[in-house]
Amino acid sequence: MTTATLTIDPGFRVGPVDPRLFGSFVEHMGRCVYTGIHELGHPDADERGFRGDVLELVRELGPTIVRYPGGNFVSGYRWEDGIGPVEDRPRRLDLAWRALESNRVGVDEFVAWCRSAAVEPMLAVNLGTRGVREAVELLEYCNHPEGTYWSDLRRSHGAKEPHDVRVWCLGNELDGPWQIGQKTATEYGRLALETAHAMRRVDPRVELVACGSSNTRIPTFATWEAAVLAECYDVVDHVSLHHYADPTGRSLAERLAGGAELDRAIEDIVATADHIGARRKSRHRLGVAVDEWNVWYQAGFGGEAALDWAEERRLIEDTYDVADAVVVGSLLVTLLRHADRVSIACQAQLVNVIAPIRTEPGGPAWRQTIFHPFAQAAAHARGEVLLLEPQVPSYDAGEHGDVPLLDATATYDEDSGALTLLAVNRSTTDALDLTAQLRGFPGHRLIEATALTAGTAPEAARTTNTASAPDAVVPVRNERARLADGRLEVSLPPVSWNVVRLGPDPHRAPPDAR
Ligand code: AHR
Repeated sequence: MTTATLTIDPGFRVGPVDPRLFGSFVEHMGRCVYTGIHELGHPDADERGFRGDVLELVRELGPTIVRYPGGNFVSGYRWEDGIGPVEDRPRRLDLAWRALESNRVGVDEFVAWCRSAAVEPMLAVNLGTRGVREAVELLEYCNHPEGTYWSDLRRSHGAKEPHDVRVWCLGNELDGPWQIGQKTATEYGRLALETAHAMRRVDPRVELVACGSSNTRIPTFATWEAAVLAECYDVVDHVSLHHYADPTGRSLAERLAGGAELDRAIEDIVATADHIGARRKSRHRLGVAVDEWNVWYQAGFGGEAALDWAEERRLIEDTYDVADAVVVGSLLVTLLRHADRVSIACQAQLVNVIAPIRTEPGGPAWRQTIFHPFAQAAAHARGEVLLLEPQVPSYDAGEHGDVPLLDATATYDEDSGALTLLAVNRSTTDALDLTAQLRGFPGHRLIEATALTAGTAPEAARTTNTASAPDAVVPVRNERARLADGRLEVSLPPVSWNVVRLGPDPHRAPPDAR
């Protein structure tokens, strides 16, 4: 048995929980769009072709903002192909994923889907094969009210009101050799600057995301950001970071330390961006948009070059187990712990492609294991992130070095009094007995404690949810939690994601009434 202690104090805060930390991502890739969110003829599809069963799960998952249409796809995309009467839209080669793109879904359909799902759209412009003109035309099409060629065209397609898209990505992963239209940092930084200037002329309210490195292993990591931001620092609001924890070939102990890598990556990007800000004597501070993050068994993907042209193929449909859900929990904790600088975060992707939701064409939709930590965090992490300094032993996590056994954060919503502790026990063998001093929360009671866990059987960490057993892995009530005398004691099972919810006791008189 291992023990850990921490203090939760409402006076020690990291920053507000921006709802946009619970974003997601829909790319024209594999079956994310077609037979994912959209499937004409599916028994649950509406008249536009959007699957109602998927929409229901999306609402339950709780993303707040969804990035679209890529990803690598956007770097070869002509957005005009996806507007107007569907029967007139061209079929194109999608060079990113060697796929045939029907263009049945385009920007108008996506925004309509966002409204049904109650999420904010976040669009990416193509700065791979295209440039300033096409970006401003798309923005004019989406956000200009009326009376111009592009805005009136949108209106003629049935969207009388502007789409009012606020967050825009200036391209995608343009540092990567796999990217259509790859650029040097200076080329891209310059193009981002020009595009940003022009886009702000069309709509000054837009928030712009410059592309950071596509991953931390790429040799140009951090030098890319420095060179890009040297060009466009003043005109962008966020710099992107992509992070995929790859479990392939790693021991369970190493896999569970996946969040530690993201932690370092965020700190490195913040340091790099702030360095450019300091050099420019600028008071402007950039947010980090972690606009692609997840667990991805990348070694299992043979690469796009090996693919034959196909439509709606199954591509990187990773099936996640309990341990992956615990890692996703840890990545969410990491994002929240950096709420002072992480401004947007999008789990990649939403449906089928490395996704929390899986579907079968013509068949069911179900929740993968990783659905649960996201849904619980999105539902309960509200208000302010509190600063925790857990006292806990570390373990040897191989290439990640020494990593604490406990990964935790807490949020406090002053309005409702809701206090939520999110915690991961990375031990593969032992429960972790956590004691939390709740100074500053005198009238609180325990509402609920849940754990998603493999328990003590190591093979259970491999359990997955499938179409025939969709609820094999779900969070369960943790009976080993109690609150007494301002002290929370909870036993966190090995390999577990935990949510402990506390709130004001309705039966206790408020302090000023006593
Ligand atoms: O999410 C899958 C792919 O991963 C995206 O298209 C790309 O941006 C990243 O490399």
